[in-house]
Amino acid sequence: MRILLFYSTMTGNTEDMAIDTEEELISRGHEVELMDMIADGLPNEDPLPHDLLIMGTYTWGEGDIPEETEDFLEDLFAYDISGLSISIFGSGDHAYENFAGAVDEMIGQFRERGHKGDIPTMKVDVDEMDNIAEDIKSYVDRIEEKFLVK
Ligand SMILES: Cc1cc2nc3c(=O)[nH]c(=O)nc-3n(C[C@H](O)[C@H](O)[C@H](O)COP(=O)(O)O)c2cc1C
Repeated sequence: MRILLFYSTMTGNTEDMAIDTEEELISRGHEVELMDMIADGLPNEDPLPHDLLIMGTYTWGEGDIPEETEDFLEDLFAYDISGLSISIFGSGDHAYENFAGAVDEMIGQFRERGHKGDIPTMKVDVDEMDNIAEDIKSYVDRIEEKFLVK
């Protein structure tokens, strides 16, 4: 699959998850472009020529989508994304009431805009960040099960 993988990060956890997900996807033969939501922004091609858009975000406030991710989504929703499969992951901290709530908020935004397909997700706690290999493998397994046309 041709995959666009975007992340937002403040302290690096979501970036680490994005890099490990990229490596796992590449090891399975996929073509991946890894991008920072703010530093890179969306490619200048509408519709995007990819099969799958994966987005990783941290969570801010009280289960909120951080501003970088909101800005990215605003840009994204101006594109024709009707042909894209979607997947969303996030890092969070169980010390907060709404664990990785930005992931659920984002799913809500895609549903509001009429996205009907499955949206595989992965959420990882800050305390588990040193040991995410299995999370990443099972996440990519689920992505392939949903979207890979054999
Ligand atoms: C002010 C503040 C609010 C946060 N709110 C939440 C929250 O509501 N839910 C949650 O799961 N994590 C919350 N977090 C934790 C971050 O999402 C977590 O540390 C994440 O791993 C940061 O990702 P990053 O390293 O990619 O920046 C909050 C962190 C800060 C500093």
